[in-house]
Amino acid sequence: MEIKNICCIGAGYVGGPTMSVIAFKCPNIKVTVVDINEARIAAWNDKNLDNLPIYEPGLSDVVAKVRGENLFFSTDVDTAIESADMIFIAVNTPTKTYGEGKGMASDLKYVELCARQIARVAKSDKIIVEKSTLPVRTAETLQTILDTTGNGVNFEVLSNPEFLAEGTAINDLLNADRVLIGGNQTPSGKRAIQSLVDVYSNWLNPKQILTTNVWSSELSKLTANAFLAQRISSINAMSAICEATEANVEEVANAIGTDSRIGPKFLKASVGFGGSCFQKDILNLVYLCRFFNLPEVADYWEQVIKLNNYQKLRFARKIITSLFNTVSGKKIALLGWAFKKDTNDSRESAAIYVADHLIEDGADIHVYDPKVSASKIKADLSYLWQLNGVTETDITKKLKQVFVHTNSNDALTNSHAIAVLTEWDEFKNYNWKNIYENMYKPAFVFDGRNILDIKKLKGIGFYIQNIGK
Ligand code: UDX
Ligand code: UDX
Repeated sequence: MEIKNICCIGAGYVGGPTMSVIAFKCPNIKVTVVDINEARIAAWNDKNLDNLPIYEPGLSDVVAKVRGENLFFSTDVDTAIESADMIFIAVNTPTKTYGEGKGMASDLKYVELCARQIARVAKSDKIIVEKSTLPVRTAETLQTILDTTGNGVNFEVLSNPEFLAEGTAINDLLNADRVLIGGNQTPSGKRAIQSLVDVYSNWLNPKQILTTNVWSSELSKLTANAFLAQRISSINAMSAICEATEANVEEVANAIGTDSRIGPKFLKASVGFGGSCFQKDILNLVYLCRFFNLPEVADYWEQVIKLNNYQKLRFARKIITSLFNTVSGKKIALLGWAFKKDTNDSRESAAIYVADHLIEDGADIHVYDPKVSASKIKADLSYLWQLNGVTETDITKKLKQVFVHTNSNDALTNSHAIAVLTEWDEFKNYNWKNIYENMYKPAFVFDGRNILDIKKLKGIGFYIQNIGK
């Protein structure tokens, strides 16, 4: 079937950029992105492209070219479903915060709601594409809901996991290492796979498009994220040994990364990985392993998360012990809140956990991030505290220790210590001499991303600590 009309449910970090690139590369396909969040859709439709709800390098250029031509953003979900040949599901699938599988399993509530809505509305055959990361065999659940509650039309469910990384999403979509499409190995399943292959063939060459059965595709996404996160936890584990032995983690990473079997990427020791995917997907994998009675496999992968939690805590503790065992009443400047540079996304950012620990010890934290808003920063902390059972009164009290600045100098001036939590490029080029002069002494810098010039900062007089050095 030739696809002429695509609908995507979920205008988030995945749905928005992915559909913008599909529309850009496939001028003959009409792409409509729908979302129940009216404010988000209004932001996608804002004339001023600086107001798009997601900051992603290159995204506004792509949107400017195709919005209103063959790319549309709307809250009218029913109409978009009805007129589409192919429907992508890109709604969020957070870790469950209640009931069975709490804290581990993915919450598929929104995915299920989408399936029920599609089944109710669809009056013609549709191809349904899972874009959200889902537990293995979710396609089966979707197929059952669609077939038992639908209007007698045919649905083919495909899995087409997203491998884009935030901050480089547009480039990752335009020049994908590979696209993975899983589908039923029946004649109609294979036809559906081919329809999606044809969409991507508008800009990718056939060698970059892998096709598999549905279950392999679903599991490959979890596996890719688990392997990537495992590499970071592995190098972060080595960073702790480096600090104890005077080895240098960057030299170690370089030494092993030049072995072509290991490769150089994803070996940057840090304050810990964040983002909406790694932790959620590994917890989900662990939950699945336990479900399938594979406790040793579950424990193996769970250790990746435990090590990451340890790394975040280790960093916060290092700040406290270095500042003579207390940060109570001290001004600690946090440079960066996003989970990595070039994004305004702070989901699961290490900064949240480091800040929480410092606040617990009585610090006043002064945050500066070039892209994350004050309301988001406070909401991130409040959400963590709510999950941990902190009362509303105590949350209000704790928030009095949180100050967010739109100017880095306000965060840095008169601070006792500075912690770099996101690797934003601008931090490297600050006037560090000037910053030193306006700080309490001894002036501490804790570089959780290893981006600052140690020699230069030591020369100025800073007391500087890094990860794994
Ligand atoms: C995606 C994937 O869905 C997730 O599985 C993956 O692991 C990470 O990326 P993301 O795009 O980052 O999620 O999520 P988010 O930015 O929260 O966007 C999801 C959107 O879906 C939201 O705008 C939300 O309003 C919308 N939504 C949610 C609906 O339109 N309908 C619903 O029923 C639920
Ligand atoms: C990740 C996957 O890379 C992507 O394929 C998948 O689709 C979604 O999840 P993302 O979360 O956007 O993408 O960012 P990524 O670049 O993978 O970084 C994740 C976290 O790991 C960040 O906090 C980053 O700072 C950290 N990281 C990454 C390190 O600490 N060290 C590294 O060497 C690499």
